[in-house]
Amino acid sequence: MAKNIKLIIGSTRQGRVGKQIADWFVTTAKEAGFDLTVLDLQEIALPNFDAAVPPAYMPTTTEEGKSWQATISEADGFVFVTPEYNRSIPGSLKNALDYLVEEWKEKPATIVSYGYIDGGASATKHLQDIFDWLKILNVGEKIAVQLTQDTFDEQGVMKDADATLSEYKEAFIASLQAIEKA
Ligand SMILES: Cc1cc2nc3c(=O)[nH]c(=O)nc-3n(C[C@H](O)[C@H](O)[C@H](O)COP(=O)(O)O)c2cc1C
Repeated sequence: MAKNIKLIIGSTRQGRVGKQIADWFVTTAKEAGFDLTVLDLQEIALPNFDAAVPPAYMPTTTEEGKSWQATISEADGFVFVTPEYNRSIPGSLKNALDYLVEEWKEKPATIVSYGYIDGGASATKHLQDIFDWLKILNVGEKIAVQLTQDTFDEQGVMKDADATLSEYKEAFIASLQAIEKA
């Protein structure tokens, strides 16, 4: 049976480009036969994690936390779509990761980073450290989407998504196949 793979959109800011990038990868996955469920952290709007006891010692008690726990619990694997903010991942994604422990454990994942410096490679490096600690298994290929001043028009819309993103298609499909196999 196909795995329940969830794609997490890590950026939540107004005018973010992450949704456009994620949409292209979701469509590409669909064309290749993978039906990804999108978890948009902007929509999910998790409050800032503030539990008195770390989730490693006590399950989350808030309604939002319990709902997030159920969502991550039922997933078999993940695609993390993350921008690079100050050489790391955005706080919104870190916050979503911090809520849970067991629900991430031993699940296969892949990372799609993006950024202007080196395609968000530093964000991936930091995310990989978190994966190692939470025991999320990165089975994917390196996908670091290089943005340039020419990628978006004045309204912030990607001028030609295929031209910008097609070079990552093969690695992305291979990463999804690796998640399926894991
Ligand atoms: C707070 C902040 C910090 C940023 N730091 C970096 C950075 O370290 N490296 C980089 O390549 N781009 C950096 N950028 C540029 C982002 O890559 C670019 O704004 C991208 O569109 C962010 O993704 P989003 O639009 O989905 O939020 C930064 C942007 C913001 C808002």
